[in-house]
Amino acid sequence: MSLLIKDESPEKLIGEDGKRLDGRDLNELRPIKMEVGVIPNADGSAYIEWGGNKIYAAVYGPREVHPRHDARPDRGILRTFYRMTTFSVSERKRPAPGRREKEISMVIKNAIEPVLFLELYPDSVIEVFIEVISADGGTRCACTAVAILALADAGIPMKGLITAVAAGKVDGKLIIDCSGDEDKSGEADLPCAISWYNNQIALLQFDGIMDLEEFDKSIDQIIEALEKIRKLQEEALKKRYIDVRDHLKNYKPKVVTTNNIEEKIDSNNQQNQNGGDQRE
Ligand code: CDP
Repeated sequence: MSLLIKDESPEKLIGEDGKRLDGRDLNELRPIKMEVGVIPNADGSAYIEWGGNKIYAAVYGPREVHPRHDARPDRGILRTFYRMTTFSVSERKRPAPGRREKEISMVIKNAIEPVLFLELYPDSVIEVFIEVISADGGTRCACTAVAILALADAGIPMKGLITAVAAGKVDGKLIIDCSGDEDKSGEADLPCAISWYNNQIALLQFDGIMDLEEFDKSIDQIIEALEKIRKLQEEALKKRYIDVRDHLKNYKPKVVTTNNIEEKIDSNNQQNQNGGDQRE
């Protein structure tokens, strides 16, 4: 029986065999699963499971801006709301959005906004609600990846996808895709997002200590990992379109000919006349 209390920080994060606590190699990603179009009431939505992270993103809009004075006549505005549910971490999280949630909402918005053609939606707002149901390190990266999928599902024109992952340093070794424990007890955490249409960095934050050589090596590992994650994002989007196509295969539109339009107008006129006669 393990005597490790859930929130107790482990002393060593890399074992004698060179593996991490969850059995991964240093440059190995956690299992990632994505699905697009999961919330019927939203204009666009997506879900991601990334290691112990479980996150939904729902997009509403473009729609009217409230309060009206926030509206811009030359372009639409993007709002992002990152929230962690009270039960998403082992110690109950306060329900009110704290400073961390506001910061993460902002960095996700800053990463995504430049790839959207917001100039197509003057006086409108596009809102992205991101709910972390279960958190285990790297949620800002997983949220960025899932938010862009939900926006694509909502049909918002974009220049390209955005993908994110965090590199880190634990027990003096460079790692990719930090888990919650590695994030908390490690020596460095380096979340990074890339915008694929111009291969530019869309998000880069750094917490901890690394020398320049380690930083360079981490960026190389990040790029390698991001290529893999982008493929998963593309597959999730393609699957959504294949699903829609399959659904449409069984859809038989009712053929309306000129004849039945005339019949319908006649019958409507007849009904209106009867109604009118009764009222008189
Ligand atoms: O999630 P991300 O790595 O982007 O952000 P962070 O602020 O570095 O948080 C790292 C991890 O700490 C989160 O993913 C959660 O697993 C955990 N955390 C927590 O246990 N309780 C909180 N109130 C906030 C975060």
